[in-house]
Amino acid sequence: MAKRIDVSGLNIFYGSFKAVEDVSMTIEPRSVTAFIGPSGCGKSTFLRALNRMHEVLPGARVEGKVAMDGQDLYGSGVDPVQVRREIGMVFQRPNPFPTMSIAENVLAGMRLNNKRMNKKAATEIVERSLRGANLWNEVKDRLERPGSGLSGGQQQRLCIARAIAVEPQVLLMDEPCSALDPISTLAIEDLIAELKEQYTIVIVTHNMQQAARVSDATGFFNLAAQGKPGRLIEMDSTQKIFSNPSEKSTEDYITGRFG
Ligand SMILES: Nc1ncnc2c1ncn2[C@@H]1O[C@H](COP(=O)(O)OP(=O)(O)OP(=O)(O)O)[C@@H](O)[C@H]1O
Ligand SMILES: [Mg+2]
Repeated sequence: MAKRIDVSGLNIFYGSFKAVEDVSMTIEPRSVTAFIGPSGCGKSTFLRALNRMHEVLPGARVEGKVAMDGQDLYGSGVDPVQVRREIGMVFQRPNPFPTMSIAENVLAGMRLNNKRMNKKAATEIVERSLRGANLWNEVKDRLERPGSGLSGGQQQRLCIARAIAVEPQVLLMDEPCSALDPISTLAIEDLIAELKEQYTIVIVTHNMQQAARVSDATGFFNLAAQGKPGRLIEMDSTQKIFSNPSEKSTEDYITGRFG
C-alpha cells in the first residue's frame, strides 16, 4: 500500500506571497519522514501541498511537481478528492466530529467518499481501523458513544483510525502530539512505528527527541528572513541529521541555539 513521493522544484503560494520555495525531495515508502524547523518556515504549508489540501484556500496555488509512484498528482485530469483519499492527513489538534459516535467517526471519511457499505462491512472497517490505531481495546464497549467523550490522546488515535479507514497509501501528520501528554505521545509514537510497516508516513514535529525517536529521514526547513519563503535546508537520514548535519543552521537548530 505504501508509495513513494517525489517532489521537484515545488513553490507554494498564498496569493502573491511565496511561502515555500524550490523544494525537491524523495519520501520513501514504509518509512517515517520528519520535518522540523522554526515556526512559520512552511512545514504545514508543504505538508498540505502534498495531498492538494493547500489549494482549497482562495488564491493558494503551487508550481512544480509532486508525484506518487511516478504519477503527477497535479497533472490534468487528476481528481484532488482522490488524491486526498490516497494521502490522508491527521492534524495538530484532535478533531473528531463531536456529535458523531466513535464508530461513525471512524467511518466519516468513507461516507464522504460516498462508498456504500453494508452493516457487516462497516462493523469490520470500524474494528480493523480502531485496532490499527491501537484504540480498539479502550473503546470496543462504547462504540456508539460520542467521540468527544474520549481523552485527548484517545481522540487523536480516533482521528488516526478515521484516516486509515479509507486505506490511504500515505499518512501525513502535522504535529499530531503537540496537544498530548507524554503517555499519549508515547502511544502515538509506538503506533507510528507500527504503521510504517504498511504506510508512507510524514510527520511534522517541534519535538527534536520525537523526530529522533520515530523517524528514518529528517528534513530541516528554514527561512532566510521574516517574509522570505521557507526552504528545505537539508534532508538526510535522521541519524545523520542529528549526529553530523552538513549545514551549520541545521546544527544550530537541533542543538537549540535558535528556533
Ligand atoms: N492561510 C494562509 N494565508 C496566508 N498565509 C499563510 C496561510 N497559512 C500560512 N501562511 C503563511 O505561510 C508561512 C508558512 O506557514 P506554515 O503554517 O506553513 O508554517 P509552519 O512551519 O507550519 O509553522 P508552525 O511551526 O508555527 O506550525 C507563514 O509565513 C504563514 O504566515
Ligand atoms: Mg505548522
